[in-house]
Amino acid sequence: MDKTIINDALEFVRNTFNDDYSGHDYFHTLRVYKMSTRIAEQENANLIIVQLAALLHDVDDIKLSPETHVNKGRAVDFLRKHGVSEAMIKTICNIIGEVSFKGTDSVTPETIEGRCVQDADRLDAIGAIGIARAFAYGGNHNRIIHDPEIKPDVNMDADKYQSHISTTINHFYEKLFQLKDLMNTDTAKKISEQRDDYMRTYISEFLDEWDGIR
Ligand code: ADP
Ligand code: NI
Repeated sequence: MDKTIINDALEFVRNTFNDDYSGHDYFHTLRVYKMSTRIAEQENANLIIVQLAALLHDVDDIKLSPETHVNKGRAVDFLRKHGVSEAMIKTICNIIGEVSFKGTDSVTPETIEGRCVQDADRLDAIGAIGIARAFAYGGNHNRIIHDPEIKPDVNMDADKYQSHISTTINHFYEKLFQLKDLMNTDTAKKISEQRDDYMRTYISEFLDEWDGIR
């Protein structure tokens, strides 16, 4: 396997996410691809598996493509067209299935490759970029920014997490502040610290302004 498949995958995801405004745009996938490569090099994981799983991790996302979500149809088609073996397709699809955050039903991926991709996807949900993506997602899904009457629920299983309606500020408590402690690799744990601090400072400023303290 050579560079061509990676270049084709980059073009495939660029076309797939062309008109996404929910925080899952092409540049999200590109950042996950670069970050998972960086983590995989440190962790001695299989690079091609990590890179293909990272590039294809959102093409069958339940929110973006519910009809192909279960079978990972778009990812499988792409990989078959490029002559990837069925065994490797299975490995990559398993990783894609493990990556997503599902509240208390989230899983730790079986393989080091899956752990690298999950960490990279989660790192992109926190820090300065994570803040921007959360508000983009909230606006795109008609969620309000903040309502002190609506309390966060930090203990949701997958069904509840996917169906419940909340505010974007609550999303920080319901998911984003939990991610630092869920990182798998030492490389990602280190990177997550500054991003987590930055996000907490931001939310504390936000709430101080809300309460008229600043
Ligand atoms: P994952 O790729 O880990 O499954 P999601 O697809 O749920 O994550 O989330 C993608 C992006 O959208 C993340 O940056 C996440 O924080 C944001 N997001 C998801 N759900 C919400 C929500 N309810 N409110 C605000 N942002 C959200
Ligand atoms: Ni993602």
